[in-house]
Amino acid sequence: MTVLITGGLGFIGSHTVVELFKQGEDCLIIDNLSTSQIDVLDRIESITHKKIPFLQMDLLDIQSLRNVFSQHDISAVIHFAGFKSVGESVRKPLIYYQNNLISTLNLLEVMQEFNVKKLVFSSSATVYGDLHTPPLKEELPLSAPNPYGHTKLMLEQVLSDMASADESWRIAVMRYFNPIGAHESGKLGEMLHGIPNNLMPHVLKAANGETGKLQVFGGDYDTSDGSCIRDFVHIMDLASGHLQALKYVETHKGCEAFNLGTGVGYSVLDLIHTFQEVNSVKVPYDIVERREGDIVISVADVSKANSLLDWHSQYDLKDMCCDAWKWYQTIKGLNVC
Ligand code: WQD
Repeated sequence: MTVLITGGLGFIGSHTVVELFKQGEDCLIIDNLSTSQIDVLDRIESITHKKIPFLQMDLLDIQSLRNVFSQHDISAVIHFAGFKSVGESVRKPLIYYQNNLISTLNLLEVMQEFNVKKLVFSSSATVYGDLHTPPLKEELPLSAPNPYGHTKLMLEQVLSDMASADESWRIAVMRYFNPIGAHESGKLGEMLHGIPNNLMPHVLKAANGETGKLQVFGGDYDTSDGSCIRDFVHIMDLASGHLQALKYVETHKGCEAFNLGTGVGYSVLDLIHTFQEVNSVKVPYDIVERREGDIVISVADVSKANSLLDWHSQYDLKDMCCDAWKWYQTIKGLNVC
């Protein structure tokens, strides 16, 4: 039986594939390479030392998707594929609704046709909006502050309704907080193309002297040091969380949401200082104006994943900063693992 991983060449997908392989699962990756690169497959295989089946295809092509299900004995799906830039979603909402919604609806339709009802779905802490006081629990009322978040919120509702209508569905919805870090080998990590959206890629570029000073968006928030607070979580912890969720949907009907974070908040300045300390490198930065749309504090309550998934994050902020820098030095040719 095969686990289908959509978007399996992306940051979270690729690290999850490595862990699935390590656990002995048969994997099939599909990816349209719109926001990922084919050399990630080589990187995965440099770790697994075995070819991983891959098909370049788009979930918007429902007939191709049907062919995948008719030609492979798929038992479950981990669905990562989707656009995920908050800023881009504000500028181009229609492509986010078309891509994220239609691709997922196509996947659900074909899964239903082939009676494949076990699904792990990639969601985001964005669905909590900025209405609640952390730590954020899964049963809180949801709201999304941007089109990207709206697509996740809508799809969570679709999944919940499908599970209510047909009890054979077994769905785990994974709400990621702030994934950073890289595989310990230094051979796999977040591929950085174009202007990055998130904090860590900007830290890496500033540390490597590629850009000017890192801009810290806001130093006057009501926090210990004035910068925003986030729940940074190691990408390998995120990967293991998906393996636990896959086990969970083997035996649990319905649709359940789980936070994947550490439950510990660190500020932007904490991350910069930690990064400098563990890597003995300077990260030049300026504190500038706040970024519109940022929430002050985003930290997970992880008790549900701890208890129901038997999942606990293993890596701390130092590990995340060290592994991210090791990976960056690899892709910059500064060290060969
Ligand atoms: C983190 C903090 C910034 C860049 C987003 C999405 C979320 C998820 C993760 C997909 C904020 C500050 C950033 C910089 C900075 N994506 N920052 N200088 O906004 O918490 O979450 O990415 O699932 O859905 O909303 O992540 O890394 O962009 O920002 O000071 O150059 O770092 O202001 O406080 P965010 P982020």
